[in-house]
Amino acid sequence: MSANALAQVAFLTPATELESIADDITIGKDVLELITGAMYADPLSIYREYLQNAADAIDEARAAGLYKAGINPKVSIRIDREQRSVTITDTGIGVPNAEFVHRLTAIGGSRKRGAAYRGFRGVGRLSGLGYCQEVIFRSRSVGDKKVLEIHWDGRRLKEVLRDNAFRGGLPEAIRNVAKKATAPRSSHPPHFFEVELRKVARVKNDLLLNEETVRDYIAQVGPVGFHPEFSFGREIEASLSKHGIGASISIELNDGQGEIYRQHRDEFRVNDKQEDRVNGVEIFEIPGSDGGAAAVGWFVHHSYFGALPRRAGIGGIRARVGNLQIGGSDLFAPCFIEPRFNQWCSGEIHIISNRLIPNGRRDDFEYSTHYENLLAHLSPRLGGLMKICRERSELRQKLKTANLHVQKARHSLLALRARDAGPIARKVAQWQCEDALKDLERAGLGRVLSDAERELIGHEHARLAHDLRKAISRHSDRDPFRLISPRKREDVQEVVRLIFDRIGNRKKAEDLAKRILAAFR
Ligand SMILES: Nc1ncnc2c1ncn2[C@@H]1O[C@H](COP(=O)(O)OP(=O)(O)O)[C@@H](O)[C@H]1O
Ligand SMILES: [Mg+2]
Repeated sequence: MSANALAQVAFLTPATELESIADDITIGKDVLELITGAMYADPLSIYREYLQNAADAIDEARAAGLYKAGINPKVSIRIDREQRSVTITDTGIGVPNAEFVHRLTAIGGSRKRGAAYRGFRGVGRLSGLGYCQEVIFRSRSVGDKKVLEIHWDGRRLKEVLRDNAFRGGLPEAIRNVAKKATAPRSSHPPHFFEVELRKVARVKNDLLLNEETVRDYIAQVGPVGFHPEFSFGREIEASLSKHGIGASISIELNDGQGEIYRQHRDEFRVNDKQEDRVNGVEIFEIPGSDGGAAAVGWFVHHSYFGALPRRAGIGGIRARVGNLQIGGSDLFAPCFIEPRFNQWCSGEIHIISNRLIPNGRRDDFEYSTHYENLLAHLSPRLGGLMKICRERSELRQKLKTANLHVQKARHSLLALRARDAGPIARKVAQWQCEDALKDLERAGLGRVLSDAERELIGHEHARLAHDLRKAISRHSDRDPFRLISPRKREDVQEVVRLIFDRIGNRKKAEDLAKRILAAFR
């Protein structure tokens, strides 16, 4: 059909008239199930959601100048295994008494949307309900006398969801499940927010109450700072703060291990046998598609011995928004031509542009041209990293081979110098040494070696060649093959080498070789 004919068909089809809907719209209780149960694949995500809220509240308190009077921005997490409870308290802005009930019973409609906060979908705080019997929110804001509480009853929630006779919609369901109270006594700070999870479920080896697992998770995902033993941290933080990002929050866990830090260090373990150290950092900006910077990234360089172990928590190029990690360590792995190399590398991409939006599960970004632009800029950089990984592994292979040739040369020198070696054995040892030196010379070429490594190999070669000349000059052997006719000489030499290769006992080999030489004379 021609374009013209198409236009005619469109012209003939009457336009559908759209009207607004005046009828009531049902929002059923089942929405609660989606929010509290099905959102996140990893139960530990609930820690991230509460830390995201705390980080937003602390930013707001900072902006309001609340930290001038003695209180510090801080989050404390208390895990009580006996009571099976978790309490997360922050000294952020808190929620004013007057708005408390309304804000903490709302579903969606976060007032953060559009502002520079990390949350904005208005549901994250309910994620804990899927994993415990009761979630309590407790707070007050500056000027409030009372500390108010909302109790969300997880068991009641399950009953309501299961109850087929329940006719109410979402608001009725929430009224059934959430109750308000005033906290009895209060040694609480003048502004704070607290989440208490009671009777936490035993999921996946009880990981929600495992201090080590929780610490490890927060160290990777939480808005915590770099460890003092990571000396590149300061340089990275300085670059981030130029764009107003990367600020960290002090987070404590009651495990006696002190403040939680990100896991990068100057020195780290690659495996049981190998240690490595960071030898440099690369910090770069990724331009946005509408001018300005979309993100700031950093990679640390090291020896690239292989994949960094998962438990070290530093492998992979990771994304952060508001200094909280989005997705896992494999988020950008597909951008590597060989994805396995992602885990050989270590670095972060800190998002600046508010057009790059984490998805609801915070395991990736919403797909958009801005995200595409980010990936397009990131890909060549990851390609550069992959090239380094490949070259390093090639280099290690080269050095290993060179080392093997050195060993061979040394071994044949020993055979040459051996007191009991006969003239034929000495000749064979000399050839072997010369061959090894030729191989070593070849190994010293090649583009992956640095000048220093080439020089090192050159040095070793010169020393071995010198030792060889010296060892030869100690004997005034006449060439044992001189009486063989030149036509057959090479073949006989080949046979003799084979004999020395195969017969370990040099004395026996020498005797056999002697007899062969006699036969060919
Ligand atoms: N730690 C906190 N400090 C102050 N207010 C909080 C805190 N946690 C939650 N809130 C309030 O509850 C609201 C809903 O939180 P949440 O369900 O996580 O959604 P979102 O973070 O997307 O707004 C927040 O917008 C905020 O007003
Ligand atoms: Mg939130």
